[in-house]
Amino acid sequence: MKKLIVLVVLAIVALFISFSAAGEGEELQARSSIMVIMTTVITPATDTMWSIEEPKTDAEWQVFAQAADDVIRAGRAVRGGGSGPHDDDWARNADWQAWADTMIAAAESAKSAAEARDVDAYIEATDVMYPPCEECHVAYNPGLQ
Ligand code: HEC
Repeated sequence: MKKLIVLVVLAIVALFISFSAAGEGEELQARSSIMVIMTTVITPATDTMWSIEEPKTDAEWQVFAQAADDVIRAGRAVRGGGSGPHDDDWARNADWQAWADTMIAAAESAKSAAEARDVDAYIEATDVMYPPCEECHVAYNPGLQ
């Protein structure tokens, strides 16, 4: 009987530990704020994209394909809002969604260009990617352009 109680207690403890582990995992996947996405993903990725010159090797091209992919994923997150105080209100607006879509579409073109090793098409796509940054900032983050 004592043994059974010990087993039950152990089972409960194990259950508790697995629940709290799941809780931590969820927290790690929690949504970021728009500000954090901008400064930690979009800024470094677009800095890379706008600095493209003449990548030659697969590994060099991979850096530019990856940067474009980072912007695609960050753009989708931006489109869906975030954890900042105004993020979800902003993201409900049609102009916000349109600028996010333009940025995502441009990054998708850049990714295809990287896969095709076409530097001119890549640069063209990054030119299309810039106006939505500026237009969205004028509307939602005046002071920064
Ligand atoms: C759909 C709207 C939208 C688009 C598109 C967008 N941004 Fe932003 N960005 C914002 C908002 C809103 C903030 C300010 C967030 C806040 O104040 O919480 C911001 C902040 C930033 C910041 C931080 C500025 C600061 O005040 O410190 C940088 C850097 C930035 N964006 C870069 C970019 C770049 C580069 C692009 C284009 C590739 C881009 N953003 C596209 C909405 C956008």
